[in-house]
Amino acid sequence: MVVRIFENRRAVSQACATLIAAQVIRKPESVLGLATGSSPVGTYQQLIEWYQQGLLDFSQCISFNLDEYIGLDESNPCSYHAFMKEELFNHINMKSFFLPNGNAKNLGVECRRYDKAIAAAGGVDLQLLGIGRNGHIGFNEPDSHFVKGTQVVSLTQSTIEANRRYFDSEDQVPKKAISMGIGTIMSAKEIILIAMGEDKADAIYKAVKGKISPDMPASSLALHPHVTFLVDQAAASRL
Ligand code: F6R
Repeated sequence: MVVRIFENRRAVSQACATLIAAQVIRKPESVLGLATGSSPVGTYQQLIEWYQQGLLDFSQCISFNLDEYIGLDESNPCSYHAFMKEELFNHINMKSFFLPNGNAKNLGVECRRYDKAIAAAGGVDLQLLGIGRNGHIGFNEPDSHFVKGTQVVSLTQSTIEANRRYFDSEDQVPKKAISMGIGTIMSAKEIILIAMGEDKADAIYKAVKGKISPDMPASSLALHPHVTFLVDQAAASRL
């Protein structure tokens, strides 16, 4: 595992965008794994800028997002579908992009379909991750075991509170989501995790220096052969 520490949030975003751009330049038909939340927004802004300047072309790229809430319509501005369109896909020429369908009639079937679609695309070349304050990756919350495939998850109270900022009230925050499992995430050929801010310092410390345990989902990444953590000084303050 490589850990790179940057002065601030902006520098993390720049470094992350640079690595994604390098991936797309090296392999134009890349399969990208993407994340929502506040952490990747600066990265997406930089990628959009480079695309608009004609420096990047996503026309052969496809992407799979980590997760989606259950029960929100795709057009709901709080859905991850809407987030990704607003923050990235409306502004670049991505060939196609996929998120789990949180409104599928049979959610179990949808989870299996999503894993099969990723495998059929050849697997994820580069997976981008944020990290929750409790160490979650995707919506894999602390658990007694590492979950293999895409699954329906119940969000913990701390995650519901963290996501409250995007909704009018806590009641409106969905309590369940579909998320790639730890096994799905670990099957990516390369992984980049980004973290900014002091409230991530504890999770980063445990993920990098702690024992590998399902009660700290991000600790599983230590077993992956090609992982890079890009963190700002605040998130690295306990290392
Ligand atoms: C998002 C996701 C989550 C977030 C994490 C950090 O698709 O799967 O694991 O990456 O909750 O969120 P932010 O970046 O908002 O602090």
